[in-house]
Amino acid sequence: MLFKTTLMLVAGVMSAGAHILGAPVAVTPQAAPTVVNLFLGAKRESNYSFAASVIAADAVATTYRIHCESGALNMPGFPTTTCDQNDPPWTVTEGPSTMVGILTTAIESVTAVLDERCIIEGRTAAYCNYTFSGNSAGTTTYTAYTTIITGDLFYEYPVVVTEGAEKLLVPVATPCVQRG
Ligand SMILES: *[C@@H]1O[C@H](CO)[C@@H](O)[C@H](O)[C@H]1NC(C)=O
Ligand SMILES: *[C@@H]1O[C@H](CO)[C@@H](O)[C@H](O)[C@H]1NC(C)=O
Repeated sequence: MLFKTTLMLVAGVMSAGAHILGAPVAVTPQAAPTVVNLFLGAKRESNYSFAASVIAADAVATTYRIHCESGALNMPGFPTTTCDQNDPPWTVTEGPSTMVGILTTAIESVTAVLDERCIIEGRTAAYCNYTFSGNSAGTTTYTAYTTIITGDLFYEYPVVVTEGAEKLLVPVATPCVQRG
């Protein structure tokens, strides 16, 4: 099946690309890292950990660049890709009731875009639309499906913010001044 072949190819090229791209990414250790809890699609079976850079934040949503730090990135369309810091980052824009995740890769003659858009209800369920489009040597593959994520599969990963934590909006605190 053309679609599966393309996915395997993309996964393979992504792994190969990780070796070509080579140079390790320096991570600055922080005394007290900021951790955000993010819904990143259905909970994955393996033990994953993610790190994020905050790109932008406003009153509606925050945009992160997410890197999978460990585990296998078992996203639809990328079934066999093991994750490391050289994998393509994933741009996730998340608000209290929305999540948009976009993963793009372009290595040599293969390009692929995975687009995931979810409406989140009450931090317990997500209604998601996925589209995958890939182009390998001039042949385009496209697929789309909808899924409902509930129960144990609805999970918010604790994600360490390695860059841009200062952009996160600080909740407005009620001044609490004690006078003697
Ligand atoms: C999962 O991975 C994290 C980070 O690598 C590690 O600290 C933790 O002990 C692991 N948990 C399990 C159950 O393997
Ligand atoms: C998913 O697609 C359906 C049908 O096109 C649409 O009604 C719904 O709003 C979409 N959901 C999201 C989160 O984009």
